[in-house]
Amino acid sequence: MVAQQAPPPRVLVTGSLGQLGSTVVNTLRAKFGQDNVIASDIKKPTVQQRSTGPFVYADVLNYRALDQIVVDYGIDWVVHFSAILSAAGERNPALGLNVNINGFQNVLELAKAHRLRLLSPSTMGAFGPTTPKDETPDLTIMRPNTIYGISKVHMELLGEYYCEKYGVDFRSLRYPGIISADSPPGGGTTDYAVDIFHAALKSNRYTSFLSSDMRLPMAYIDDCITGTVQLLEAPQESLTQRVYNVHACAFSPRELAQEICRQHSPDFAIDYSPDFREDIASTWPRTMADTAARRDWGWNPVFGTSDIVREMLSKLTPVYKPSATSVSPIQPIAIASDGVPAIEVGN
Ligand SMILES: NC(=O)c1ccc[n+]([C@@H]2O[C@H](COP(=O)([O-])OP(=O)(O)OC[C@H]3O[C@@H](n4cnc5c(N)ncnc54)[C@H](O)[C@@H]3O)[C@@H](O)[C@H]2O)c1
Repeated sequence: MVAQQAPPPRVLVTGSLGQLGSTVVNTLRAKFGQDNVIASDIKKPTVQQRSTGPFVYADVLNYRALDQIVVDYGIDWVVHFSAILSAAGERNPALGLNVNINGFQNVLELAKAHRLRLLSPSTMGAFGPTTPKDETPDLTIMRPNTIYGISKVHMELLGEYYCEKYGVDFRSLRYPGIISADSPPGGGTTDYAVDIFHAALKSNRYTSFLSSDMRLPMAYIDDCITGTVQLLEAPQESLTQRVYNVHACAFSPRELAQEICRQHSPDFAIDYSPDFREDIASTWPRTMADTAARRDWGWNPVFGTSDIVREMLSKLTPVYKPSATSVSPIQPIAIASDGVPAIEVGN
């Protein structure tokens, strides 16, 4: 007798039009089939985003609407990416609390009711000023002083509680700042590390909103999404904890600028005008210890600082210098002069 292969899981991705969402949707569709991955957000997708598979409106604050999607589409796993990130949370704490806490609680209740696997990312922003900054362990002091960090600690603890008490298959990983070319930067504390490439190609100069030596953990989007899918697919029995640090590389604005000078133009100029995001960044780790993620589910990032610079320059050069190569689908971005962009991107 031939053994029956298990059907692929049906996955709902919330907040799928954010910085990380579209990449994870494309990766999951390539693995599980286009129609098995339901993208969702409260924003309107572009024609291109709609053309790659099913998309539904899903406000994570509306439990009944989420419930209906899970039933209608036969959802097995949820990747919960809807969130209000660090700088936006400081500008609008009520919205940050509502989306990050009530939205997460809705998704968690849904996971309990329908026995869903739930992956919801956390962040290095869940640490705070009293956390050890170097080689920050998985288990340590967690007293963040931002709305974003507080709401992510709530998420981690509640997810662990529902796992322990009700058997909910909750999984989370603490991302560093994620660098990507495909989505426009908008206002997170690590966004400078995306903005800087657009500025280098546009005007060959950049003013950083973090000080020159503010070293933070960072990762390239490909490593972030590979790791996310690895954790999502990992067998239950390999997981020794529910929330994992993941570390890839760490650099400061000065170090990143030096690498851009080396690879792009020796005349690239950077100056520094730290704003409120400097205070947020100063409470975060410089490096995170991620032994458990490597051991339990194979976290193994491959992009270091110079690889990230190479990838970003090669993806964005056609956007700003279309004659250099073929036309790119990525849109140029406007970098806000006040450092408070309309959309949130990193951390
Ligand atoms: N990007 C990073 O550097 C980074 C770092 C650490 C952690 N994370 C985490 O990764 C996840 C995804 O982050 P991202 O960078 O893609 O965020 P993003 O801000 O780019 O996207 C979030 C999405 O959530 C949507 N959203 C907001 N309110 C909603 C609601 N009520 N209902 C449904 N959707 C709603 C937004 O429309 C947006 O498309 C988040 O949990 C974030 O905390 C990201």
